[in-house]
Amino acid sequence: MRTLVTAGPTREHFDSVRFISNPSSGKMGFAVAAAAADRGHTVTLVAGPVELPDPSGVRTIHVVSSAEMARACKACFKSCDVVIMTAAVCDYRPAKPARHKLAKSHEARAITLVPTEDILASLGRMKTRSEILIGFAMEDRQPRRKARAKLERKNLDAIFLNGPANIGSDQAEVQLLVRGGRWQPWPRASKRRVADRIVRLAERLHARAVDK
Ligand code: CTP
Repeated sequence: MRTLVTAGPTREHFDSVRFISNPSSGKMGFAVAAAAADRGHTVTLVAGPVELPDPSGVRTIHVVSSAEMARACKACFKSCDVVIMTAAVCDYRPAKPARHKLAKSHEARAITLVPTEDILASLGRMKTRSEILIGFAMEDRQPRRKARAKLERKNLDAIFLNGPANIGSDQAEVQLLVRGGRWQPWPRASKRRVADRIVRLAERLHARAVDK
């Protein structure tokens, strides 16, 4: 199974040394990439800036911004069977980043933000054959309703509901919704254990899709 995994945050610079980002550690995505490689799959990992060593047996592409992540994912997508999108992609980027470091002023300063590309939604529109798309939804309000809406809107095969408590932790507690199915809460476990289960789910969804 040729698998594309994304992980970590993106950084959206507003000047040469400062950026907007989020505290995603990348641990979940790196664990998924390692688990898939250990099961003999061909894995490409597109990783935002994180403090983790590249997993062995995995082609790792390092990116910084959501635009770079989008480019890398779209380039890989056509030769992939499964995409597991754990990255915490920034939804906005500064409209006009300064090339140089902005000097301090005593006035209030506003930064105009514009939406970034929704990478998973773009891949959902590119989907033609039996590719499997698995997303993660980070929700703190009306979680199931919002995550289900993302599954539909982004044309996904499955979505994991992820809570803020999982950010940066070595453990994760997630709930799974496969298209056409019911919510399945998974017990809290190490991210590596959760990753092993995610890879086995991806294998089943892929096998079912190619059988059709
Ligand atoms: N995602 C993406 N590109 C973006 C934003 C999100 O590919 N610009 C992906 C994430 O990697 C994740 C899924 O979409 O797999 C859901 O991300 P989430 O942040 O929960 O949702 P958003 O679509 O960003 O919506 P909102 O922030 O309004 O909840």
